[in-house]
Amino acid sequence: MSLYKKVQIAAAFVRSQSTITPKVGIILGSGMGEVIEQMENKKIIPYETIPYFPVSTVEGHAGNLILARWNNVEVIAMQGRFHYYEGYEMEQITFPIRVMAALGAQILIIISAAGGIHPDLQVGTLLFVKDHVSFWLPSPLRGITEKDWGVSRFLDCTQLYDKALLTLAEATAKEQNIPYFVGIHTMVVGPQFETPAEIRLLRSWGIDSVGMSTIPETLVANHSGMKVLGVCLITDLLREEPEPISHEAVLKAAEQARPKLIRFLKHLLPKL
Ligand code: HPA
Repeated sequence: MSLYKKVQIAAAFVRSQSTITPKVGIILGSGMGEVIEQMENKKIIPYETIPYFPVSTVEGHAGNLILARWNNVEVIAMQGRFHYYEGYEMEQITFPIRVMAALGAQILIIISAAGGIHPDLQVGTLLFVKDHVSFWLPSPLRGITEKDWGVSRFLDCTQLYDKALLTLAEATAKEQNIPYFVGIHTMVVGPQFETPAEIRLLRSWGIDSVGMSTIPETLVANHSGMKVLGVCLITDLLREEPEPISHEAVLKAAEQARPKLIRFLKHLLPKL
């Protein structure tokens, strides 16, 4: 069965579960369950119940699609995402994005943890993505046909991150007194962190932050006609003389900054 058909079947199932017509899609970072507590009229749909949906493998990661109203905006949120380093194919990682688009979501907010390369970044800074570098990754658009999707696979990438959304994100961060940075992001396959030589290379290429997600989702969201806001929470600093990095330290930094990130999202939503 074609990917297009599978997306339509999955979307029809999700549509049958809730009366919400989501305008905004949100990919939540790990441990952001508190956001879900704040939502109203919510329908929590476990990934494994949705036809053709991939299923989370990371221990302790919930895998749910949530349709709800948050701060008066109808949203569709992913609690638990799929990473390339887990062994999923690009098509699986981006399947939920295509389902969100099929359900009518026009905006996608992608939250992730990232290492900070630019010297002005601090742990806890929110980095709003203005552009990315990803030519070393396999494309989630590989194999996509115009016949199925009605749009060219030769995606224009001159403005993948929506300028108006960036402006709103900056205004919200300022108003909420939240430190932010607008920068260029990249993704590595991982799951290993970067070597000092790789950090120097990324820095010399003008890259400000590095993570292990976000880019495939951004490409597919744009291919599906959605506008994207990328928000990276800086959880560790990648310097010329780097300190050792651990997954535990990344999770701890993410946990500490979470209330700020939630406050940012909550105040941003009504502006969209
Ligand atoms: N590198 C890559 N991905 C990451 C990092 C990092 O330093 N921190 C959080 N995700």
